[in-house]
Amino acid sequence: MDQLVQWRSQPEAQQNQPISALNRDQLLRFIEQRKSSDPAGLEDSEYILIIEDEDNGEGVGWLTLEITSRLHGLARIGYTIDRERWGQGYATAAVEAIVHWLFTDTVIQRVEADCSIDNPASKRVLEKCGFEQVGIKHSYLVIHGKRVDHYYFERLRENDTGA
Ligand SMILES: CC(C)(COP(=O)(O)OP(=O)(O)OC[C@H]1O[C@@H](n2cnc3c(N)ncnc32)[C@H](O)[C@@H]1OP(=O)(O)O)[C@@H](O)C(=O)NCCC(=O)NCCS
Repeated sequence: MDQLVQWRSQPEAQQNQPISALNRDQLLRFIEQRKSSDPAGLEDSEYILIIEDEDNGEGVGWLTLEITSRLHGLARIGYTIDRERWGQGYATAAVEAIVHWLFTDTVIQRVEADCSIDNPASKRVLEKCGFEQVGIKHSYLVIHGKRVDHYYFERLRENDTGA
């Protein structure tokens, strides 16, 4: 929890996505409000998953998984890596792993992700993970008080040779 508080407070984590620093109590409340009664059942809910280095188990960042409609098999992802550990393939590996799991072991058919047009590293992660850019959401999210255009990406289970 303390690590998540610290990662969220990094200026680089906040640069291209609409998140703010939360103290421990605020973060606990934030998580509590989103808590699903049955995480394994993948209810329509938002999950915060800690990304760990598979060699030493150290936390390196977090991934948000939002099940936007279990009925229609829709999910949305977002991810942030500790500033000290950028460029080592963590985000790519985490996104690959979550999509593989969603398409192999759950009812999810379509995963969506958006990234700011000012965030080439995030765009590259999605491209490396086989996401297709299908459009631009103009004036989409408010980041530091300004509305920012975002690339809109999707990956479909039906196009997935590995699933
Ligand atoms: C975006 C982010 C998650 C990437 O994490 P990461 O673990 O460094 O990503 P990876 O190492 O898996 O891959 C990064 C890729 O982007 C590329 N990249 C990095 N900066 C780049 C830039 N300025 N322009 C173009 N490509 C860039 C890297 O070279 C790498 O691609 P490659 O493997 O082809 O060389 C990380 O920068 C981050 O946490 N940023 C702050 C939070 C954020 O913006 N999250 C995304 C919200 S949509």
